[in-house]
This record gives sequence, C-alpha cells and structure tokens, in this order.
Amino acid sequence: MIYLIASIAGIAGLLFGFDEGVIAGALHLLRAEFTISPLAEGLMTATVPFGAIGGALLAGWLAGPVGRRKLLLGAALLFVFGALLSAVATSLAHVCIARLLLGLAIGVAAMIAPLYISETAPARIRGMLVSIYQLAITLGILGAYLVGYVFSDSWRTMFATGMVPGLILFFGVVVLSDTPRWLVLRGRRDEARAVIARTQGLPRDHRDVVAELREIEKAAAADEAQGGWRDLLSPTLRPALVVGMGLFLLQQLSGINAVIYFAPTVFRLSGFDNTSTQMLATVGVGCVNVLMTFVAMGLIDRIGRRKLMFIGFAGAALSLGMIAVAAGTGASDLQALALVGLLLYIAAFAVAIGPLPWVMMSEIFPLHLRGPGMSAASITNWVFNFIVVLTFPVLVEAIGLAGVFGIYALVCLAGLVFTARLVPETSQVSLEEIEAHLKAGKPFSALATRAPDRT
Ligand code: BGC
Repeated sequence: MIYLIASIAGIAGLLFGFDEGVIAGALHLLRAEFTISPLAEGLMTATVPFGAIGGALLAGWLAGPVGRRKLLLGAALLFVFGALLSAVATSLAHVCIARLLLGLAIGVAAMIAPLYISETAPARIRGMLVSIYQLAITLGILGAYLVGYVFSDSWRTMFATGMVPGLILFFGVVVLSDTPRWLVLRGRRDEARAVIARTQGLPRDHRDVVAELREIEKAAAADEAQGGWRDLLSPTLRPALVVGMGLFLLQQLSGINAVIYFAPTVFRLSGFDNTSTQMLATVGVGCVNVLMTFVAMGLIDRIGRRKLMFIGFAGAALSLGMIAVAAGTGASDLQALALVGLLLYIAAFAVAIGPLPWVMMSEIFPLHLRGPGMSAASITNWVFNFIVVLTFPVLVEAIGLAGVFGIYALVCLAGLVFTARLVPETSQVSLEEIEAHLKAGKPFSALATRAPDRT
C-alpha cells in the first residue's frame, strides 16, 4: 500500500516535471512552424503554470465536496486529453488551449497528491515521500529533455509522449480508495474503517483499526473547529506563512524555470549554434538536476536546513553572476563559461533551493493548518513560476541575457538575507516544538536544534 501511495507521489511529480520540461525541446520547432514574437512565446510557454494556478485553486475548492480520488482521476484524464490535443494542434492558439488544460491537470495533481500522501502515509515516512516528490519532478524534467533529444524533429511526438504518465496515473488511482480522512469528513465512517483495515491488513474490528479511526475522527473534529485560512494570518502563525510563501517566491524568482523551460534557448544565446548541441547540453542540465537532488536528500537532515539554504543561495548568486558577466562582456570563452555557470547554478538549486521549500512547507504549519498552508505555498509557487516564464523572452529581448541573469542573481542575494532573518532551523526539531515555538510568539528564525530525535 505504501508503495502505491509513494508511486502516486512519484507520478504526480513526473507529470509536473515533464510538462515543465517538454517545451524546451519543442520551442525551436514551434518557432519554425508558426511565427512567434517574444511575447507570444512567453505567453504560450506560460500557459502551463497559468493553468496550474487555476488547477491548484480548483483543487483547494473541490477536494472537500468531490474527494481526492475523483479529482486525481479527473486530472489524469485531462492530462491524457491535453497531451493528445497539443500533439494534433494546427495553430499557436490551439497549442495554448491544450497547454492550458495540461496546466489545469498538473495544478490539480500537484496539489492533491501531497494531500493524499499526508492523509494516508504514516508520519515516519512523510518526509521521505516529500523528497520522492521533488526527485520525481527532476526525473520528469530529465525525461522530457530526453524525449526532446530523441524525437528532435517532431514536436508532435514530444507532446504525445505526455499521454503515458497520464494513463499510468489514471490506472494507479483507479485501484485506490479515497482517504479515510475524507470519508470520515463526509460521514462515511464504515467505508473509512474498511479502508484503514485494508491498508493495515487487519480485520475491520481490530483494536488498531478502531483506534486509528478514532484518531482521524478526533483530528477531523478539531480541524472543523479551527477555521483554517483565517488562522494562518493570525500574528502567531503569520511567520510560518511568510516562510512558506517566501521560500517559494525566492525559489521561482531565482530564475530556475527560465532555465528549465528555455534551456536550449539560453545555450543558443550563449553561442551554441547547433541545435543538437543545445539539446545535449540541456540533457546535461537535466542530469545534474537529478543527481544533485539525490545529494540533497542525503544532506538535508545532516547539515540542517538553514546552512544548506545559505549554500544554495550563495552558489546560485555566484554562478548566475558569472553567466551575467560573461554574457555582458561578450567574453571570448562565453560558451564554456555559460555551460559551467549553468551547471553550477542547477547544482546549487537542486541541492537546496529546489527541495527545501517543499520539505519545509510540510513541517512549519501546525497540523490542523497544514492543508491551507500547503495550498498557499503551492499557489505562490505557480504564480511566480508563471511570472518568470512569461517575462523571460520579453526581458531577454529588452535587456539581454546578462541583464536577466543579473536580476536573478540579485534575487538569490535577497534569499541570503531572507534565510538569515526569517527561516527557522527545523532539522532535528519535533513538529510539536515548532508549533509551541510559534505559539510562544518568539522570532521564528530563533528556533534551533534542541532535541536529538525528530517525530
Ligand atoms: C520547482 C519547479 C522547478 C523544479 C526544478 C521545483 O522545486 O518548484 O518549479 O522546475 O524544482 O527541478
């Protein structure tokens, strides 16, 4: 059962990554087929994160009345349909509509999958599942780059490949039931009990099953009483909201998706003329992203969140600055500098700026506010993802690659200040301690490692 839940996380992450990355390989073909201005290029690329904002909002609204499972099934179908529609597009507007639907599906899946996990997975492996999610995003991106490299002369095939993970998600979710917690919330107590019994492999009247059902009922009743969204804005909890949303804002404004969505374009602007070399370098970006996410998974609990975040922002600021200087001065070794700079930047991102906001968003909100807190954080992710992707082609046209990367480097410097002043150290601290610290009204960043064991 746990493997099934983990694979839901995995497939949702793959979908997320695949759809971010697939446009990278397709863009030069689309440019050749349709006449595209920089603004139209930004618009078309940004339809995915734009649709995802809608999907995340929709999921937040419908997760209660419709249920987690049906929403995931709907998203999977939409994903297959969107991939098909984009593969047979006959105009740019057609591509945009298809990508908007895909974005919608991804917004729903990327929001419901973590919710599904937090409601079904035992607490002890929740952290690991969060990491699997980020790893799957990077594998999805790499998969999209490889598809772009292999089918380099057919954007239709690249888009059509996206149907595969959609179908896998559909058949995976068909065999799952909804979460016991949702069933309890809908007053379907008997079904909830049956699901718990099945998950634990125990008879329905077993002590553990009854105890777990009672726990869920207690938690659900407490949730109803808490009021949700409004509480997040209360002075005691606001610091958690600021950190949750702020980390995603910085993650996105560090420019990551200018690279993920437009990597071959960035390589072209840095002097790589040959399309196949651009795509090969892009696959290199995808590989470093995956590898460094593994490194992050090993380091996160060992060296602590704050230190890792400093390393990430400092490394990203340096490498982005290096590319900006190289591009601005037209250095004779521009190609080599851009390649090394980009790979260093991806490494710094993947080791910290990528996974940490996801990990921390699942730790910093008190249990009863984790749902609304996670939606606020994930909507922030999509909104700023949209802004970066929409503006990148226009900004490059207006101020050049050096200017744009210079701005992203400054954002990373701001990330250092944000981390120093506001980000707490949550590694080796129990979730209860985090909550108690917040409620005591002490500065969030003063939270420090105290207990050897985490719960
Ligand atoms: C971000 C995505 C990004 C990806 C790159 C994720 O943490 O939220 O927007 O494309 O990392 O690996």
